[in-house]
Amino acid sequence: MIRKRGCLTFCGAFLFVTWNAILVLILWGRGAPSGQLHGQVGGEDKEQIGAPDVGGSDVARDVLRMVENVESELEMQRKILLQIQSQQSLWEPQEENDQKDSPHQVVIPILVIACNRVTIKRCLDKLIEYRPSVELYPIIVSQDCGHAETAEVIDSYGSQVTHLKQPDMSDISVRPEHKKFQGYYKISRHYHWALNQVFKVLSHSSVVIVEDDLEVAPDFFDYFRALHPMLNLDVSLWCVSAWNDNGRDGYVDPGKADVLYRTDFFPGLGWMLLRKLWVELEPKWPAAFWDDWMRQPAQRKGRACIRPEISRTLTFGRKGVSLGQFYDKYLRYIKLNSKHVPFTKLDLAYLEENKYKELFEKEVYSTPLVTYEEIKQGHLTGAGPFRLQYSSKDSFKVFAKGFGIMEDLKSGVPRTGYRGVVSFLYRGKRIFLAPLPGWSHYDTSWS
Ligand code: UD1
Ligand code: MN
Repeated sequence: MIRKRGCLTFCGAFLFVTWNAILVLILWGRGAPSGQLHGQVGGEDKEQIGAPDVGGSDVARDVLRMVENVESELEMQRKILLQIQSQQSLWEPQEENDQKDSPHQVVIPILVIACNRVTIKRCLDKLIEYRPSVELYPIIVSQDCGHAETAEVIDSYGSQVTHLKQPDMSDISVRPEHKKFQGYYKISRHYHWALNQVFKVLSHSSVVIVEDDLEVAPDFFDYFRALHPMLNLDVSLWCVSAWNDNGRDGYVDPGKADVLYRTDFFPGLGWMLLRKLWVELEPKWPAAFWDDWMRQPAQRKGRACIRPEISRTLTFGRKGVSLGQFYDKYLRYIKLNSKHVPFTKLDLAYLEENKYKELFEKEVYSTPLVTYEEIKQGHLTGAGPFRLQYSSKDSFKVFAKGFGIMEDLKSGVPRTGYRGVVSFLYRGKRIFLAPLPGWSHYDTSWS
């Protein structure tokens, strides 16, 4: 297919060049007897036109004829170009067919955010092991911190990855009470620089961001490729994430590795964004705490992310900038999906906003109400799902803590929440921790 197209292009170009050569020869031949073409176009000729001396009208006639010739010559050229163009449009349907065989052949680069962890090896090894195509998923490692040993590890991958280095190693001046948050400022500066490289310098149209302490699942690449078209078309979405904040073993359904959800909570930790979102966020990108900033209404603007039932990333970075705030309690237990789900071959139409919202509301609010004690003590009859209602920030937190799901809220949104509802498995049964029916918006004062 590519060879055939190459041949057609070559033939078209050859015809075009040949025609031009003939044209030049013809014009040359015609121009010569009545004086140099150059001279006529120059000042001398301008004086002659309209001047009634001997031979003047001949020259004018010659010029007119030549103009006419040039015009018809140009018309011919236009036709040739149109023909070449029409050939091109014949090739295009073929390209669409190609795309049907292996859909959405857009390049999705993987941006790995690195600093000083030599254990980035674990992250890169898995990415390279599962990467289905080098061309479709270029790996760009952006390194901050100038750590030589880590740079060596990254360079050991040779041409399998591109190694970029964030050039600004200066300390960032912060107010005294934020001294301890210097790390968050540096992360934010690094993200800003790295995303500009991806979108502005390398001109990609999308990217999946992976931090150096993440290990990816076998179907990581398929997952993002399958969701790329939806992210591109659906303005109610702004990200696709590989992460389930409540994805601990026992809290997720191993039989539902293929199930995806909408969430109002920005999960991060292996996530895809498009250039159009970067264009929107870049001018106001924050100096620090970029992820919590993303969770604020001014940035989220009511948009949701897609997240999986079972995480497609696992974090092994206990000692991080946030000093393992959640690591030992939650993050280290997040289960990584092990079975390959062929997402690009699945029908994902159920994630479309209106359909999803309608089904979701119906399912959650037609589910029988139960009490916290019934759930905790295993007194539920039937297979479920079951609904437990919360009516305040405090009742949400008490329940969440009691079940062992994440209890913190950001800008009023609970982790994994969709329209206030947190869905998880408890003692093998599906629970919806849900606000009162008729929920309309998040209360940003809940934190
Ligand atoms: C936490 C988040 C992380 C987020 C960060 C910023 C979790 C589990 N992690 O970081 O997703 O990006 O807060 O709010 O919720 N890094 C630099 N320059 C530095 C220091 C670190 O680029 O000076 C890079 C690291 O290589 C890593 C990323 O920033 O890729 C996050 O750093 P890490 O130390 O893992 O911090 P967390 O506490 O996980
Ligand atoms: Mn981390």
